[in-house]
Amino acid sequence: MDRLVISGGGALTGEVAVSGAKNATLPILCAALLTGEPVQLDNVPRLRDVATMVKLLRQIGVQVEHSGDRVELSAHALDRLEAPYDLVKTMRASILVLGPLLARFGEARVSLPGGCAIGPRPVDQHIKGLQAMGAAIEIEQGYIIARAQRLRGARIVTDMVTVTGTENLMMAAVLAEGQTILENAAREPEIVDLAEALVGMGAKISGAGTDCISIEGVPRLHGTRHRVMPDRIETGTFLCAVAATGGEVFVRGARPATLDAVVEKLREAGAALEAGPDWIRIRVAKTRGNGRLKPVSVRTSEYPAFPTDMQAQFMALNSIAHGTSRVTETIFENRFMHVAELNRLGADIEIEGITAIVNGVESLSGASVMATDLRASAGLVIGALIAEGDTTIDRIYHLDRGYEQMEKKLAGLGARIRRVASGEGR
Ligand code: UD1
Repeated sequence: MDRLVISGGGALTGEVAVSGAKNATLPILCAALLTGEPVQLDNVPRLRDVATMVKLLRQIGVQVEHSGDRVELSAHALDRLEAPYDLVKTMRASILVLGPLLARFGEARVSLPGGCAIGPRPVDQHIKGLQAMGAAIEIEQGYIIARAQRLRGARIVTDMVTVTGTENLMMAAVLAEGQTILENAAREPEIVDLAEALVGMGAKISGAGTDCISIEGVPRLHGTRHRVMPDRIETGTFLCAVAATGGEVFVRGARPATLDAVVEKLREAGAALEAGPDWIRIRVAKTRGNGRLKPVSVRTSEYPAFPTDMQAQFMALNSIAHGTSRVTETIFENRFMHVAELNRLGADIEIEGITAIVNGVESLSGASVMATDLRASAGLVIGALIAEGDTTIDRIYHLDRGYEQMEKKLAGLGARIRRVASGEGR
């Protein structure tokens, strides 16, 4: 297993380019199942989760050509309408094939995801919504077996706001008979990106980006070309890293309009930010003692509020702020596993229920730590960039799930960071 070795304490300066959004790419790849015609996607990030989804689609029978940041898919003839456990257990987003397969082929067999490191994460809302559209669903030997002649439009109110749930139901509804109304829908920008790709395929969708999405089913969809939106979490992670280390960085190819809550919190902490339509510049003086960044309390919630996927990064930032902050996680249980690791670097963080109390310290110092999930790893990278001395982060396959060439991009900004392949240097 690869490790990252980071010698922290330096400022970040220069320019960095943002990749395409992981959480938009995964559902849009699945949308290609809805048509027999070719679908071409650009700005696709090279990530482990994308490779896992491509592997799953190939197993289903989709022809996939992947070169550079372009993926071409053709779901002309499929031979296996199934997502097996060995893939679903490594990536929950595999559940996103359920809606499209059922809508186009009238059947699908998808493994239940089971638990994962950040809590139980059930998929009951996906199932409930498909049942409302007329699907017969059984759970057998850990698999969701879904069948329907043709799905029927329905009014669906989910019990909670779910991102992939909204995406799955939207993809099922585009080929259903009649109108579907999704109430309490997630409003994440990635849902808007998926809706734009589906509309490019001939779907009739309105209201994506609001909590009420209306879909008028059509008998068939056609091929399309779509450019995936920029990754707002990768963008936010770089901004947080610069805020934590000090420096000045120009972030290129971003979409600042999707980052309001994050930018606002960084300003509150004392960072200077400027933005254009597709760029953000951040400037932060590296200071010590009383001049350190201000602590910023955050509470994660659904978009457009502060994202859970930025919680660990802000925890690292707050760990060296001048004062105490509270970081409250309302979306996922058990998403504080980075706390113990940040404390190994010298942070002073206590957990009280769903809130972490972060007492800012003057500085962190390098140690060996372990990545436990994707965004926790990003928090540890920021902690390591702050820390004086060397930090080794183990199990960075978590980071590779969602960040494209993180160490190269950070090295380009002057960070002293290197990847050590498994077995090397032990
Ligand atoms: C997506 C994102 C993930 C992000 C999360 C919240 C992708 C591929 N992943 O995950 O990066 O952290 O949104 O912004 O886009 N829930 C249920 N039943 C369901 C569905 C969800 O109880 O059927 C619960 C979950 O356990 C969780 C909450 O609802 O507590 C929100 O989960 P959800 O929005 O579905 O997260 P994901 O779509 O898995």
